[in-house]
Amino acid sequence: RGASIVIPVAVHFPTGNEADRDCLVALAQSQVDVLNADYTAMNADISNWTAASPFYPGLQPGVANISFCLAVSDHPVGVDPELLEGEPAVTIGYNFANGSGFPELDSNWAGYMNFLIKPLDGTTLGYSPLGGSIENGGAVVMNLSTFGTGSGCPGSGIVPGAPFNLGRTVTHELGHFYNLNHTFADFTCTGDDGLADTPNIDTESYNCPPAGSVNACTPGQYSLTMNYMDYVNDACMYMFTPDQMNVVDAYVSSVLASQIK
Ligand code: ARG
Ligand code: ZN
Ligand code: CA
Repeated sequence: RGASIVIPVAVHFPTGNEADRDCLVALAQSQVDVLNADYTAMNADISNWTAASPFYPGLQPGVANISFCLAVSDHPVGVDPELLEGEPAVTIGYNFANGSGFPELDSNWAGYMNFLIKPLDGTTLGYSPLGGSIENGGAVVMNLSTFGTGSGCPGSGIVPGAPFNLGRTVTHELGHFYNLNHTFADFTCTGDDGLADTPNIDTESYNCPPAGSVNACTPGQYSLTMNYMDYVNDACMYMFTPDQMNVVDAYVSSVLASQIK
């Protein structure tokens, strides 16, 4: 393994929460911490995985050669009135061209991995392009209740909500940004996610199925319900596979690395 690629993260919150800056910066850092753990199998709950589990014999959790940091803004003073050069790259109510007060894609933030935090319709936890670009300020969009972990920032109404309160929605969405499909792919046994070390399955899983309780398409194989690219609760997803992390490493190094500021 060579030096890992460091991905600079910038986080953008809705207007009206400027007085809550310290809390929102801490919430952003909590999400960065989750990503650093989950993409390197350093998450505490990786202990739920055992190589003796009834999936593929010998399958081990995957580790990507990337890490995340909450970026420091290099924007000149005045570009964003409440963000000074040298401060964490967290904006609140910054320069939203549509005047809605909610963050949107912004080319001033090209070269950063952006997270836009705003109210989404009731059932959407977050969304991302498949195989994204940060050339023009590309972003993952997150609901107010699915970003970061811990007690959140009640003064801003930005509070992680169970059962999606452990920051894993961003882990999942970034998987899409780095070109990962859902493990259940197109919900059929004839389609698959293109990866050899994830059993082919024709259905997503919700809640918290016990390991080995969901049959895969091939008799004797079982769905990797605990994979970050399924739909289970945050507390019940805790691993990527090696093939998934190979896709991420390949995408980050070939497409994104040259776009990083
Ligand atoms: N449904 C969303 C998607 O397909 C995210 C699911 C995330 N699940 C979670 N436990 N956080 O992108
Ligand atoms: Zn998804
Ligand atoms: Ca597969």
